[in-house]
Amino acid sequence: MSSHSEIKRVTVPQLVACKGQRKIVALTAHNYSTARIIDEYVDFILIGDSTAMVAYGLPDTLTITIEQIGQHTAAVVRATQHACVVADMPFGSYQESAAQAFRNAAHLIGKGATAVKLEGGVVMAETVRYLVERGIPVMAHVGLMPQYVNTMGGYLAQGRSPEAAARILAEAEALEQAGAFAIVLEGVAEALGETITAALAIPTIGIGASVKCDGQILVTEDMLGLSGERVPKFVKRYANLEEMMRSSVQHYAEEVRASQFPEPQHCFGIKRT
Ligand code: KIV
Repeated sequence: MSSHSEIKRVTVPQLVACKGQRKIVALTAHNYSTARIIDEYVDFILIGDSTAMVAYGLPDTLTITIEQIGQHTAAVVRATQHACVVADMPFGSYQESAAQAFRNAAHLIGKGATAVKLEGGVVMAETVRYLVERGIPVMAHVGLMPQYVNTMGGYLAQGRSPEAAARILAEAEALEQAGAFAIVLEGVAEALGETITAALAIPTIGIGASVKCDGQILVTEDMLGLSGERVPKFVKRYANLEEMMRSSVQHYAEEVRASQFPEPQHCFGIKRT
């Protein structure tokens, strides 16, 4: 067993052990450059199906494929040494049957992911159990599930009535019982985020949920100000990289047009033998 790589990533049991001890920090990434920078600051990196929107400009998350998520996963794995890498199962890659889910989850594990994430409540419990029993750690995802955008009729906050809240709590409990090691709570009423976090033994990862969740995740482009003006209410902008990029590119263009770049230090001399 001495040939195992030297890379010591955060493991799934370590993420689970964070519950009640310390907060879990997570971000998304889909490319080498970003993953390399964020690696040391986060506990896990998600190759989200939001890659469809932020990397490909698609209108929703529904058409990204397992091959595309696989390629992005491989790039993120190559860039990182510390964070646990979780890959999202795209729409249509797991809903058909548990066997289909296993085949596609194994594709992502083959690209270097440690775990997969999938959306859905009670209806997905059997699939979660199937994957976990066969060695694939699963992060569940309930509340606002972007893959259900057509069913929901938009990206609407969930669990805002007592009945809806009770249903989402029951779904989270079913997914925990099926063996999910963590669960993303997206776009749910704050009180529900707190209730689910208290009710479950596995960590909850909030995105538009509650500060009481065991961890938080954001789409990196959203929090860095790289995804345009319109972002969901739950996004906090920690930087405005769009502004920085625009002024840097403008500066570069001006210098090129004025023959001020490249300067002597950017040029090669002739080697005299
Ligand atoms: O696809 C994604 O980026 C996600 C996170 C926002 C949780 O699912």
